[in-house]
Amino acid sequence: MGVRRVDEAALARFGDEFARTLRPPPAVVVAIAGDLGTGKTTLVRAIARGLGVTEPVTSPTFALVHRYEGTATTVYHVDAYRLRRAAEAADLGLDDMLGEGDAVVLIEWPERLGEALPPVTHRIGLEYADDPAMRVLVVP
Ligand SMILES: Nc1ncnc2c1ncn2[C@@H]1O[C@H](COP(=O)(O)OP(=O)(O)OP(=O)(O)O)[C@@H](O)[C@H]1O
Ligand SMILES: [Mg+2]
Repeated sequence: MGVRRVDEAALARFGDEFARTLRPPPAVVVAIAGDLGTGKTTLVRAIARGLGVTEPVTSPTFALVHRYEGTATTVYHVDAYRLRRAAEAADLGLDDMLGEGDAVVLIEWPERLGEALPPVTHRIGLEYADDPAMRVLVVP
């Protein structure tokens, strides 16, 4: 897949197309790494749309996890940014999510989960580019 420069529309198109390649079971874990404001939530929204989620997808703040029903999947949006201690990671219920065969777990700030980060199916990176309207999308 590699590295490419994307504007917001291209990132959304990528998310939509990527979503269509996800076919749990088994549960899929997508780690989305990138600095503040690089577009992680924007990408999560596009992936959720591609999975058939119709309700608004917003950043999990207080709860850290939001759950949505897709067409054939249950979509979890985990934002570990505000995770304070490793103990809190245990409260996120990641094991339960993974136990659901139809789960797609989208994780922002995956590095903050430390050892609690489940085995990752796909890693996606977002970085700032020279132009403020562009991002560098890294898909190994
Ligand atoms: N090419 C682009 N791709 C994605 N977002 C872009 C792009 N260009 C500009 N933006 C803007 O950057 C912002 C990205 O915000 P978003 O909440 O998706 O980032 P985030 O990585 O989830 O941030 P946080 O680390 O706070 O969770 C949005 O305001 C969006 O409009
Ligand atoms: Mg975000």
